[in-house]
Amino acid sequence: MRKKIVAGNWKMNLNKLDAVELFKSLESSVYPPDVEVIIAPPSIYLDSFSNASNLKIASQDVSQNSNGAYTGEFSSEMLFSINLRFAIVGHSERRVFHNESDEMIFNKVKSLLNNGLTPIFCCGESLDDRNNGIQFDVVNSQLSNILNNLSSSDLEKLIIAYEPVWAIGTGLTAEPSDAQAMHSYIRNTIANKFTTKTSEQISILYGGSCKPANSKELFSMKDIDGGLIGGASLDSNSFLAIVNSF
Ligand code: 13P
Repeated sequence: MRKKIVAGNWKMNLNKLDAVELFKSLESSVYPPDVEVIIAPPSIYLDSFSNASNLKIASQDVSQNSNGAYTGEFSSEMLFSINLRFAIVGHSERRVFHNESDEMIFNKVKSLLNNGLTPIFCCGESLDDRNNGIQFDVVNSQLSNILNNLSSSDLEKLIIAYEPVWAIGTGLTAEPSDAQAMHSYIRNTIANKFTTKTSEQISILYGGSCKPANSKELFSMKDIDGGLIGGASLDSNSFLAIVNSF
């Protein structure tokens, strides 16, 4: 049985007081025992939340380097040392605003795995890609480094998040059947390269304007194992409703 996961990506939102209030409310909530709940607060707050017991804490990013003269960055080893075990990598906002290449993202994945953390690897096509009908090719190429260079035992440690760029923060959600088609494509691509057993073990999350009004339908799809939630994760009631949507 694959893990059901709901992860909240707070992005660059909330001052410390508001972040602590939201954290406390989520930390004291009751969750279905079969759902893993992860939050990714801004990195400046990670250390103060890393003692959470009811929630898993993720970083929103990590450096591809292990240490040294990289002003403003932090490493996988540092995240591990403050008890973090998850980090998002390859988010489209990092790919677009920080020019992150597939190679850089792969280095981040490797660094996280080498240091005992679980990468939440994001992929997804732009609106132009979808309008040109090349969404599967684009996602395939974003996946190629991890599929060509990781062993099956490393790949099985990953969480994959499919986030169509045109659905992020826009209010436009992928139709559940379109999201399912991409999730199934990702799983089949993994099965063809490795084995069905490996592909069946990897949780694939959907992200992009996921909210209480659409999460149930999305999560009912065969290959959608949960969500990576942006805006709706900033409100504890909405986030809880999504966690309870399976
Ligand atoms: P929204 O839920 O705000 O569309 O953001 C999705 C996302 O980018 C999560 O990483």
